[in-house]
Amino acid sequence: TAKKLLILPGDGIGQEVMVQVRRIIDWMGKKRNISFDITEGLIGGSAYDVHGTPLADETLADAMSADAVLLGAVGGPKWDDLPFDKKPERGLLKIRKEMGLFANLRPATVFDALVDASTLKADVVQGLDIMIVRELTGGLYFGQPRGIETLPNGERKGVNTLTYTTSEIQRIGRAAFDLARKRNKKLCSVDKANVLECTVLWREEMIKLQQTEYQDVELTHMYVDNAAMQLVRNPKQFDVMVTENMFGDILSDCAAMLTGSLGMLPSASLGAADANGNRKALYEPVHGSAPDIQGKDIANPLATILSFSMCLRYSFNMDAEADMIENAVKAVLKGGLRTADIMAPGKAKVSTSVMGESIIRELEKL
Ligand code: NAI
Ligand code: MG
Repeated sequence: TAKKLLILPGDGIGQEVMVQVRRIIDWMGKKRNISFDITEGLIGGSAYDVHGTPLADETLADAMSADAVLLGAVGGPKWDDLPFDKKPERGLLKIRKEMGLFANLRPATVFDALVDASTLKADVVQGLDIMIVRELTGGLYFGQPRGIETLPNGERKGVNTLTYTTSEIQRIGRAAFDLARKRNKKLCSVDKANVLECTVLWREEMIKLQQTEYQDVELTHMYVDNAAMQLVRNPKQFDVMVTENMFGDILSDCAAMLTGSLGMLPSASLGAADANGNRKALYEPVHGSAPDIQGKDIANPLATILSFSMCLRYSFNMDAEADMIENAVKAVLKGGLRTADIMAPGKAKVSTSVMGESIIRELEKL
């Protein structure tokens, strides 16, 4: 049966880049005879304009019953002055929370043709292909107690707490080990076990998982400060990294810059697996709605196209089609076509739609 895909283009360039994904989906239907059961919905400001809320209950229900959700981006100046709970970003936070997406996957891939877009030297990043798995619903960003209190002596005190239960560590651990198994069977768990007890537990649980369920995957450990340094010094030593929420927030932004452009970065967020091993999942580019370039047909659609390819690989088990899309992206870049955000001397500057068209043309050749 056809996989159920909910498409939520959102606002701003989210809508423009999603048009290019729809072309790929049409192509897959016509040329590969693969069809999806697609529902399209509203999220963010465009949902507020129609429903008075950034995420309608009906859309959330569609998300809960879908095999995967593909999202563009939300937000824009038009909605900046709305009350807190009506803001576009609340729609995004709500859908992530309701779907229970506890694992955030952020690949950092350097395409050969784009080595010049990186901020680092070519030999450091050439061929880079790593994946950071960030725990997304626990850790320092959610731990209790938290807040700012006034002490009896009149001083004020700010508190945040780093907490993880064994089950929280095990589920992010399994998601990361499963991924490592699909890739190169190497997992680096990043912690601060020399200082933070919570991450001593984290390390112990990762070791237990490896010994009991994932003996085929090589597990290493690294302190987060060293990991930040190693990501810049020699990122190719890593394959899959798994880490705490805040550590992952920082490390994944650091890794993102190894690749050079926001317009190239896809992501996936995964929830719990059901009895059949299917996980709730949401795929989206890392970038936002880019109001500064909206409506100009210059946004880079590749981050969203690559998010769709992750969806094919991780939710739909369509590795062959995911490979085809990634190869088409490589070929187009190799041919010298660039959107403005990844522009370089000697390259042809193309629009969003021409980039999408060129991907289809490459797919035709593969
Ligand atoms: P942004 O990611 O939208 O844009 C940052 C800069 O990168 C801009 O100069 C933009 O033109 C450029 N850029 C981003 N994506 C691009 C692409 N695909 N191709 C070419 N250039 C691209 O972040 P910003 O400006 O901080 O936020 C704008 C709006 O987006 C805000 O309303 C913000 O809340 C929202 N936002 C939404 C996110 C989401 O939906 N996941 C994530 C980040 C921001
Ligand atoms: Mg961040």
